[in-house]
Amino acid sequence: MQYGYFDNENREYVIDRVDVPVSWTNYIGVKDMCGVLNHTAGGYLFYKTPEYHRITRFRPNGVPMDRPGHYVYLRDDDTGEYWSISWQPVGKPLDQARYECRHGLSYSRYLCDYNDIKAEQTLFIPIEDPVELWDVKLHNSSGRERRLSVFSYCEFSFHHIEMDNKNHQMSLYASGSSFEDGIIQYDLFYEEDGYQFFTSNFTPDGYDCVRDTFLGSYRTETNPLAVERGECSGSTELGGNHCAVLHKKLVLQDGEDARLIFMLGEQGQENGKAMRKKYSDATYVDNCFAELAAFWDDKLSQLQIHTPNEGMNTMLNIWTLYQSEINVMFSRFASFIEVGGRTGLGYRDTAQDAMTVPHSNPQKCRQRIIELLRGLVTQGYGLHLFQPEWFDTQVKKQSFKSPTVVPTPDKNQIVHGLKDTCADDALWLIASIAEYIKETGEFSLLDEVVTYADGGSGTVYEHMTKILDFSTEQVGEHGICKGLRADWNDCLNLGGGESAMVSFLHYWALEYFIELADHIGKTDDALKYGAIAKNVKTVSQEVLWDGKWYARGITSKGRKIGVHSDVEGRVHLESNTWAVLSGVAGNEHGKQCMDSVDEYLYTPYGLMLVAPAYQTPDDDIGFVTRVYRGVKENGAVFSHSNPWAWAAEAKLGRGSRAMKFYDALCPYNQNDKIEIRQSEPYSYCQFIMGKDHTAFGRARHPFMTGSGGWSYFAATRYLLGIRPDFNQLIIDPCIPADWEGFTAVRKWRGATYNITVQNPDGVEKGVKTVSLNGKCLDGIAVPQQPEGSENDVTIIMG
Ligand code: GLC
Repeated sequence: MQYGYFDNENREYVIDRVDVPVSWTNYIGVKDMCGVLNHTAGGYLFYKTPEYHRITRFRPNGVPMDRPGHYVYLRDDDTGEYWSISWQPVGKPLDQARYECRHGLSYSRYLCDYNDIKAEQTLFIPIEDPVELWDVKLHNSSGRERRLSVFSYCEFSFHHIEMDNKNHQMSLYASGSSFEDGIIQYDLFYEEDGYQFFTSNFTPDGYDCVRDTFLGSYRTETNPLAVERGECSGSTELGGNHCAVLHKKLVLQDGEDARLIFMLGEQGQENGKAMRKKYSDATYVDNCFAELAAFWDDKLSQLQIHTPNEGMNTMLNIWTLYQSEINVMFSRFASFIEVGGRTGLGYRDTAQDAMTVPHSNPQKCRQRIIELLRGLVTQGYGLHLFQPEWFDTQVKKQSFKSPTVVPTPDKNQIVHGLKDTCADDALWLIASIAEYIKETGEFSLLDEVVTYADGGSGTVYEHMTKILDFSTEQVGEHGICKGLRADWNDCLNLGGGESAMVSFLHYWALEYFIELADHIGKTDDALKYGAIAKNVKTVSQEVLWDGKWYARGITSKGRKIGVHSDVEGRVHLESNTWAVLSGVAGNEHGKQCMDSVDEYLYTPYGLMLVAPAYQTPDDDIGFVTRVYRGVKENGAVFSHSNPWAWAAEAKLGRGSRAMKFYDALCPYNQNDKIEIRQSEPYSYCQFIMGKDHTAFGRARHPFMTGSGGWSYFAATRYLLGIRPDFNQLIIDPCIPADWEGFTAVRKWRGATYNITVQNPDGVEKGVKTVSLNGKCLDGIAVPQQPEGSENDVTIIMG
């Protein structure tokens, strides 16, 4: 069953059946202001941080689902009937009204056709200002004059998520609203910058700022009293809960259009006035919308592909890059699942995200890299979860101070010890830095001096050596890296034992580093770390190979897990994919272990993280044994880890297998299985229930997951094989044998490469010839071309 379709020409996903089983979300804003919105305009807005500066309120995990939102009500003033453009919250029966939601890149558009009135509401945030625009267009197609009322509605939030969800003895008396000259001002009086405004391009006929006055007692957003009556009360108050309602009465002749623009922005009255002036100009608003499209054009144009796989084209050309970018822009804690209560940056998640889009967002990747380097302690491990502001001397510290005393953590509390360290966290950063340099050529980044979280400073290069040295030192009695608190798998604690995954990651990071050190002439370091890498490889091969696949780790009690004698948790995805991806596994073991992955972990919805799922609680293994079978880390299709298998298969040269895995997870391919998948088909989700769960195939937690970035990274760099190196562009595809080829346009360091890959012999990997602008080259790489040049690259596989 499907609820919508991909409109690639407009780069939109169109939901034409709006009663989707769960919220289908989108993100608006590309800078400091961000809105998380669903297909019925439910959701919330924040400025810079969803933790401290929330603008509109959200009631997560609630009933009715995912409210409130940024709503527009329409009312027929002759009959008193009313409805909302985005279907909810009024929710007219779908056999009487037609609704559509178009989620685009950084905007969402809601359309409705009811009562012979066509209406649309587009929500977006212009690049240059922190102001959310609600661009509302109405058309009377009824053949007669109509008297209509339009009401905006959103509910303001206390800025701090804690304040908004508890401590109401304080927060309920700390915010106020006022109205003057068509502008609503909302304020949190005790905060220096605690102001927002709401205004419009018209002179309102009425307003309400007090939520409960607008809604009325024992009512919800579904049936607000003021809308029912067709009149607002002009309510404002100091204290209480606030909303932004502006009412406009319209008379529309047959065939007549109206356009109303609402603006919800940062700062109070004064700025509201300026913004009102600026954005009341509809042409200007159109230009801002066009600018946003151009912003995304530029990002997407860094790599566009045309392959025989339509799902892959749609995802990589539009949605997967978009998802990856959203993760880098807003980090992971702003969604309907994580509603902003967790702090700052997760070390490993951010490090991985930053690795995936240096071509389309080098500035933000660089910023993230620096933030993470500052969150590294001198011993070489990263702070698992931290606020980048803590270590940024340039940033004005949070002006918010809770009026009720909440002790501020001192340095010793911020800098955690080994007991809270996840052994993988900082290792990811080595690859992010190397990939950033490969993309941009900015080698000088390595010499930049950055502070450590616990004091002192060193160059970026020194930070990198500390990360590698930490893992070299932190090994257990079998010579495998300790997982410490946990490795990438948060739930697999091994009682603090040894983690195969971390040793493989260590090897992977070492290889990146050695290549870099070699390239910049640090030969001694290349040799030194080369010897370490050799040792990691030998020990890992000896200790972890289990006959047909690699063990997942060794618990603190010395028990190997993920081995053939295990009844539960026999085969794990992380260790096997990483054995290959890192380069530790040779060809033979590599192929064998990935065959085991195919045999034990494959499902039509992707690869499960582990099989059989655990069902006996065992704290020596970890929390994973207390997770329901088939859910999340315990045997779900944990999406983040699937692309590792695509990359591993590509390394082994098995393109058809890699594509089988790619296609299984690909959300596009589940567009017509929404009765099973439930979630958005345009976004990878954190996980899909595994075989051992009754809801096998149900996807959960869209957008904010490492699967976006990793899918993009693995599919573009390993399957399509297009990856920049320090001074050349490597093109080494691994594709299904039945592909006759594909084309791609890749921009790299200011030059454009029009790539044509031909596969006349039906191979899966291997490049016979490469030609650049008609001339044959040696090897599989194209040397960097001058900025501004257009280049034709032809690859013949064979
Ligand atoms: C979640 C966490 C991530 C972790 C993964 C596996 O996605 O955000 O850090 O690696 O789960 O446990």
